[in-house]
Amino acid sequence: MTFDRSIKIAPSILAADFANFGAECEAIEAQGADWVHVDVMDGHFVPNISFGPTTCAAIRPHIKGVMDVHLMIEPVDPYIDAFAKAGADVITAHVEAGPHIHRTLQAIRGAGAKAGVALNPGTPASAVEHLLDVADLVCVMTVNPGFGGQKFIDMSDKIRTLRAMIGDRPVHIEIDGGVDVNTASSVAQAGADVLVAGSAVFRGGSVSNPAPYGENIRAIRAAAEGVYV
Ligand code: DX5
Ligand code: ZN
Repeated sequence: MTFDRSIKIAPSILAADFANFGAECEAIEAQGADWVHVDVMDGHFVPNISFGPTTCAAIRPHIKGVMDVHLMIEPVDPYIDAFAKAGADVITAHVEAGPHIHRTLQAIRGAGAKAGVALNPGTPASAVEHLLDVADLVCVMTVNPGFGGQKFIDMSDKIRTLRAMIGDRPVHIEIDGGVDVNTASSVAQAGADVLVAGSAVFRGGSVSNPAPYGENIRAIRAAAEGVYV
C-alpha cells in the first residue's frame, strides 16, 4: 500500500448482497472502487451484528486491492491476529472501544496491517492527538456506528482540525457514514481522502446489473474532486 492523498472511494459491503460477497467485491472493483470497506459489528460495541474474521478471510481472494476492515467491536485486541491473518490491509479500531488504544494500534502494526483509529461523532479530534505517529488512518464517523443508510452528521470542523494536526504525516483521513453525491464535496474540501459509501454505491445495482455501481462511484468521486457531472 503506497500513501497518497488522492480521493479514494471505499464501498461498504454492509450494503451488498450478504449471500454474494465474493461477486459483489469483484463487481465494485470492476466498477472503479479503490478500497473495499468491511464493517465488523459485534452487537456489544454497536447495536448490530454483521460478521467476523472467517467471512473476511472468505472474501479476501475476491478483492484485488485494499481490504479496509472497520472493527466496531469491544474488546479489539484478542481479535487483531485473526483479522490480520484474514488478509486485512487496514484494521481500524474505535478510540471508544477500550482504555488502551495506543497499544491496540501498535498491535495492529505488529500484526502486519496498517493501523486505523475511528472516532464516533461525539468524540473530539483531540482524542487522537497523541496517536498520530502510531496510526496510518483516522476514520471520522459521520453517523453513529451500527447501521448503514443513516443520515449524514456534519463533522467538517473535526475533519479540518484533524487535517491540521496530521500535517505532513502519512495518515489518511477516512469519512464513514451517509457519504453520497451531496455530502462528498464538503468532507473532501475539509481534508478527507478516503470516502466510505454503502447505500450510495450499491443503490440501483446488483451483481447481474453492476453498471449503476460504476455510475454511483464516478458521481461520488466527481463530487469529491469538485467536478459535478
Ligand atoms: C456504519 C458503518 C458504515 C456504513 C456506511 O456503522 O461503519 O460503513 O455502513 O453506510 P452508508 O454509506 O449507507 O451510511
Ligand atoms: Zn464502516
